[in-house]
Amino acid sequence: MSNGLPKRVKLKNGRVVTLRALEKSDEAALGRFFAGLPPEATEFLRDDVRDPGVIRHFIEERDPDRVFCILAVTEDGQVVADATLHKDPRGWRRHLGEIRVVVAPEVQKLRLASAMIRELVTHATFVGLKKVVAQILDSQAEVGAAFQRLGFCQEARLVGHALDMHGQQHDILVLTNDVDALWDRMQDLLTDLDTRGSAQ
Ligand SMILES: CC(C)(COP(=O)(O)OP(=O)(O)OC[C@H]1O[C@@H](n2cnc3c(N)ncnc32)[C@H](O)[C@@H]1OP(=O)(O)O)[C@@H](O)C(=O)NCCC(=O)NCCS
Repeated sequence: MSNGLPKRVKLKNGRVVTLRALEKSDEAALGRFFAGLPPEATEFLRDDVRDPGVIRHFIEERDPDRVFCILAVTEDGQVVADATLHKDPRGWRRHLGEIRVVVAPEVQKLRLASAMIRELVTHATFVGLKKVVAQILDSQAEVGAAFQRLGFCQEARLVGHALDMHGQQHDILVLTNDVDALWDRMQDLLTDLDTRGSAQ
């Protein structure tokens, strides 16, 4: 399937990264990316990404029909962000895609997450999804602000639904948007971001 990737993106500070699909050979680089994140960036993620076994599972269980995964990679091959669209191809939720994004602190607020979410939304449109969901914890006010800036709205609060690594319960905020509305929003937000396809 052609998805327009790899694609070079010039961030707001002029730094260039390449967005491309996750490959089998990325296990070590992906492990280094997650291991290099500060604890406060990983403790709110759904999976324990500091466990090499979890990374291996991501790589070995790659199935584009269920998880579409893209990485942002610097010119020297370092992974600086990971973005995934999770799909459930059967049943009531087959029109939904769940977005998960992690950007390294040194490249945050440069529109990298926006550029990656645009690729996920392009993919969502291509495979006929109607609605996208992002789930965050109630303690992640800044992350909520970033998603709202991208056009997501809070649709539900699941009380005490998450148990963090320290055994503490948190509410999950379910943020959603329609794929078409999000696509329009992405086009507006990213008009000034320089992206070029198939640049490798
Ligand atoms: C949330 C996250 C992915 C955002 O990544 P990012 O690359 O910094 O996001 P962008 O630069 O594309 O920002 C999108 C918009 O949100 C705003 N924004 C980003 N971080 C923000 C923050 N902490 N507070 C308020 N607004 C913020 C940006 O300014 C931007 O608006 P703009 O276009 O007007 O400049 C990143 O902070 C992160 O990886 N957090 C930790 C992992 C996580 O919790 N992920 C969410 C689970 S799905």
